[in-house]
Amino acid sequence: MSQILVTGGAGYIGSHTVLELLENGDEVIVIDNLSNSKLESLKRVEELSGKKIIFHQIDLLNKDDLGAEFKKYDIDAVIHFAGLKAVGESVKIPLSYYQNNLTGTLNLLGAMKEHGVKKLVFSSSATVYGDPDSVPITEAFPTSATNPYGRSKLIIEEILRDLYVSDNEWDIILLRYFNPVGAHKSGRIGEDPAGIPNNLMPYISKVAVGQLEILPVYGNDYDTPDGTGVRDYIHVVDLALGHLKALEHLSVHPGLEAINLGTGRGYSVFEILHAFEQASGKTVAFEIKPRRTGDIAKCFADTSKADDVLGWKAERDLAEMCEDAWRWQSMNPNGY
Ligand code: NAD
Ligand code: UD1
Repeated sequence: MSQILVTGGAGYIGSHTVLELLENGDEVIVIDNLSNSKLESLKRVEELSGKKIIFHQIDLLNKDDLGAEFKKYDIDAVIHFAGLKAVGESVKIPLSYYQNNLTGTLNLLGAMKEHGVKKLVFSSSATVYGDPDSVPITEAFPTSATNPYGRSKLIIEEILRDLYVSDNEWDIILLRYFNPVGAHKSGRIGEDPAGIPNNLMPYISKVAVGQLEILPVYGNDYDTPDGTGVRDYIHVVDLALGHLKALEHLSVHPGLEAINLGTGRGYSVFEILHAFEQASGKTVAFEIKPRRTGDIAKCFADTSKADDVLGWKAERDLAEMCEDAWRWQSMNPNGY
């Protein structure tokens, strides 16, 4: 049985991953400052799995608390989800984003180094590809950033490469997520954004449940089949399972790899809207708005590396993503 430290484990992707780890028989230690999550998510993960989670409310900016975790437990590997993730907010308060995401990560890496823990899975993002010249996007595409959030991911990726060059006993996987959506089948855990959602699927869910009036569709004049933006939506449970595969890989194949986690299929805003209406039986009103600053026309993954290197493929289709998102939303209209 391995002891896995999960930073940001109370959050959306973290909680789903913790559940899969527990079901796999791993022992999980979660640290989270609960700045964008609630402890209730982990209580529900315990209920669903029938297993205990070791939880400490710790901020990655607090080096002493962090060091104490590594002293206390015999940690084999770390999955590092903790970070701030709202693109628009990052443009308004860049220093807070750099402080939290970069300093938090540096503190974590310092503690890992000090205690000889050198296996890491890092939450990166497809945002590191900027506005790609073509799709599907392979890991070899050039990277760039257009906002502080994306730049924080890119800088962390580079820090991790430098670390690996300095000491190739580190085993690191940079997972570049495309667009995580959906929720666990039980409807007990899911995405619980504070305030008005920034992302498409939670926005649609809140219109369907009657909490928001109308979906703004940001642009219908992109160079895509129906003019709306195309993205690679991936079920959060598939994404969570990708982390288990990444951990397995780390234990047998040392090195540093960047790997896309997506489905390899792009859907437009209208396709998502219609699939969600079908899954929920609700009508979702929409209005066409100007393009959102920083948005790109098309973004979807070439997933062959995940398949070749990790032996992982996303299995859940769009209907399942929408059904599960709707079950979570309708069972928990006010979130946790
Ligand atoms: P989330 O906000 O639900 O989870 C992040 C967790 O980290 C939260 O529980 C938050 O309280 C915690 N946290 C933040 N700063 C912390 C700190 N300094 N110390 C301790 N805990 C801290 O977000 P998520 O959607 O689950 O995303 C997880 C990771 O995946 C993030 O790094 C995010 O940037 C990345 N990512 C997310 C998406 C997405 O669409 N959800 C896409 C690509 C990458
Ligand atoms: C956003 C982030 C990106 C992050 C990704 C995954 C921005 C600018 N980018 O990207 O950095 O990596 O999430 O979390 O926030 N849309 C609408 N109406 C809405 C919301 C979205 O029409 O109310 C459209 C968008 O224009 C886009 C698509 O839906 O075409 C998906 O949007 P979203 O869910 O925000 O994800 P990304 O734009 O891919």
